[in-house]
Amino acid sequence: MSFATQITGTGSAFPARKVTNAALAGQLATLGVETNDAWIRERTGIQERRFSDLAKAEENNAGLAAAAALRALEMAGKTPAEVDQIILATCSPETTLPAIACWLQHKIGATRAWAMDINAACTGFVYGIITASQFIHSGQTRTALVVGSEVLHTLLDWRDRGSCILFGDAAGAAVLEQVPADHPSRMIDWHLMSDGKCAELLFIPNRKINAGATFDQERTQAGKLTMNGREIFKVAVRTLTDSARIVLQKQGLAISDVDWFVPHQANLRILEAVAQRLGLPMEKILINVDRYGNTSSATIPTVLDEAVRDGRIQKGQLLLMDAFGAGFTFGAVLVRW
Ligand code: UT7
Repeated sequence: MSFATQITGTGSAFPARKVTNAALAGQLATLGVETNDAWIRERTGIQERRFSDLAKAEENNAGLAAAAALRALEMAGKTPAEVDQIILATCSPETTLPAIACWLQHKIGATRAWAMDINAACTGFVYGIITASQFIHSGQTRTALVVGSEVLHTLLDWRDRGSCILFGDAAGAAVLEQVPADHPSRMIDWHLMSDGKCAELLFIPNRKINAGATFDQERTQAGKLTMNGREIFKVAVRTLTDSARIVLQKQGLAISDVDWFVPHQANLRILEAVAQRLGLPMEKILINVDRYGNTSSATIPTVLDEAVRDGRIQKGQLLLMDAFGAGFTFGAVLVRW
């Protein structure tokens, strides 16, 4: 018997503290860094983001992941003990080892699951659901939990106004279940790619690195994000557009067949440029970057969860998830809901 993967539950979690652009600009001003609400809104579409209170266990990476995961499991009607496999995508773990997925497993009591983290930066959730679906299709896994969880504010260089205004903290989760291959509601197709020659456009060194890297060593700080925003913008528009076209073409579908475009949320202007190139009306794009900023691997599962819960996403609709991230990694997934 051959199998397919159905997404049967979604969930999300955010830290309580909202930080508006004006509040962030006020904090940055005390460091001598100039920015303002109008610039951030016009150039990125972001109005506010959430930052975790690190003193609260429920707002660290595993804490946010656990809250999102439990909501997704509840929607799917599954208990944590029914989960066979946990894949947690993150680029902001508190512990390099063990994997955040193991802290999460223990927190929610998913005692039967095997658990691991993956790091594909902002494409992490897309890489995660494709990876999990391969275990489901091979018959090894019946129920998988895939989570994108990030506490990014700890990795920001507050002296770099081009990057520190972009990011926020959040977690999003999905429950994936095995269904017969011809099930009407299933993941249909996917396309994943990486391009390591763009690695220096966006990176966080854990320690001083050289390894033939050509970037400005003076500009980088261990544990802090370094980014070439203008170049990333161009790569992002190109890869999001290409991934969408490739996966649609594989299935003989047109962009007009898509009911909801579910992209990684980095900058509203990137989404506008992609929409224009694809010939996609903005009304078909799920957006939450305005309220949460770029939450890396959490953007797609959180924006998906919002639209599932408020009823915009309906059974039978065609969803196109599309992400890019540091690496560069990129990829798209077609899902019949
Ligand atoms: O998941 C991937 C994560 N990264 C991204 O997705 C980044 C993609 N890139 C972007 O989103 C945009 O390139 C940025 C938002 C980072 C920057 O926007 P931009 O329109 O490309 O601005 P720019 O870098 O070309 O800078 C324009 C001006 C510069 O001033 P001058 O040289 O024209 O005088 C910057 O110094 O804006 C200045 N600037 C700011 N001004 C006020 C840069 N950041 C700020 C700021 N506030 N926060």
